Amino acid sequence: MKKRDICVVGLGYVGLPLVVEFGKHGPAMGFDTDERRIAELQKGIDANGELPKREIRQSKIRFTKDPSDIGSRNFVIVCVPTPIDRHKIPDLSHLESASELVGKHMAKGTIVVFESTVYPGVTEEICAPILERASGLTCGRDFKIGYSPERVNPADKEHTIPNIVKVVSGMDKATLNEVARVYSAIVKAGVYKAPSIKTAEAAKVIENIQRDLNIALMNELSLIFERLNLKTSEVLDAAATKWNFHRYYPGLVGGHCIGVDPYYLTHKALELGYHPRVILAGREINDNMSRHVVALAVRGLNQAGKVLKKSKALVMGVTFKENVADTRNSKIGDVITELKASGIKTVAFDPLLEGQEVHLGAPLLTEFDRVGKGYDVVVVGTPHQAFKRISLRTLKERMKRKPVIVDIREFYEREQAEKLGMTYFSL
Ligand SMILES: NC(=O)c1ccc[n+]([C@@H]2O[C@H](COP(=O)([O-])OP(=O)(O)OC[C@H]3O[C@@H](n4cnc5c(N)ncnc54)[C@H](O)[C@@H]3O)[C@@H](O)[C@H]2O)c1
Repeated sequence: MKKRDICVVGLGYVGLPLVVEFGKHGPAMGFDTDERRIAELQKGIDANGELPKREIRQSKIRFTKDPSDIGSRNFVIVCVPTPIDRHKIPDLSHLESASELVGKHMAKGTIVVFESTVYPGVTEEICAPILERASGLTCGRDFKIGYSPERVNPADKEHTIPNIVKVVSGMDKATLNEVARVYSAIVKAGVYKAPSIKTAEAAKVIENIQRDLNIALMNELSLIFERLNLKTSEVLDAAATKWNFHRYYPGLVGGHCIGVDPYYLTHKALELGYHPRVILAGREINDNMSRHVVALAVRGLNQAGKVLKKSKALVMGVTFKENVADTRNSKIGDVITELKASGIKTVAFDPLLEGQEVHLGAPLLTEFDRVGKGYDVVVVGTPHQAFKRISLRTLKERMKRKPVIVDIREFYEREQAEKLGMTYFSL
């Protein structure tokens, strides 16, 4: 059996934990085009805050910014971003440039596995031809390709790479078996051999589409129940007593996966002449929830007889997900934009963003002591664990008379807020 030397290309939320896992089992290499990221990783620092220094240092990884190093490895895994552009069209530029770079430097006999989330067909129809062109080699004869989607969940310490089944695929049976063998070394939970690369690509994208749609349904229910003067969580609690009812929660869908990946499949579907209605309807509902959050804040202020232009809002928790220091594509940014568009003076507070330069269109404070007083409305956005230290009573002390709280995910207790004389809204 051929010895496989690993190189992971793209060391972000997906690539770094992966190379570290391989590094625990033998020498591995991590390559990134971001020189600052490489310099930090060489010191054991993960600016994303996902991995501690000790873990990075313990693994036997060579971090490099020199693409010619890729040529010394015969198993290359590509984990670069796959965002959408402002028209919500898949942006494959990172994947294309990474394929070009790998192609230029890879040696004969290499297996290239892609982990980035894509629509079915990208690995074989877009990446493989670039690898061939850049290397002058022939795919299937001189090198092989595979696809293995990533399921890591930032800040989740339970569902880590060794503990979750990994879907693997390859362009032929021998490649599939080889890819399965390599990943089996690090995935205790085992690998699932998908019958084709396109099947594995489709499986990943629909995992996120299903989650997006489940949340969209809860969001739509919350819009209906609000008109019926019903509390969504109370209805869901009652319904969840049925054996086959699945409990999901309404909320904002941001970040670079759930709110983005559906557009990859819908783009491909449209290209094939099929207009996806359900998937896009879910996207539209989820994308518009920020406006609803602000509508609740405005209603509360109106009920309190306050003038919007003289009102002040505090938005707590602005990252796209709780306990994660990442604001990319956070829908709380839209909440801030809408609050300001309504004339409400807005201040953001997020203790997780200490030391980060983030542009939210509102002053960002990272220490609660500096938040000050005089707020008319508090929007509890992303419910970080760190907020457990801030009681409702403390919040009320920072607010003016007739305080309004829009607690998107019901972090605080409605009953307690109402007892304190606050007007309380949630989704
Ligand atoms: N973050 C998640 O939770 C998650 C989960 C599952 C799947 N995914 C998917 O995995 C892929 C990577 O996501 P991520 O969150 O790790 O992205 P990220 O932005 O955190 O990291 C990507 C890294 O790739 C580097 N990079 C960009 N272009 C490069 C190139 N041409 N060559 C080498 N390096 C390059 C960047 O400098 C960056 O360090 C995406 O397709 C994403 O959809 C992400």
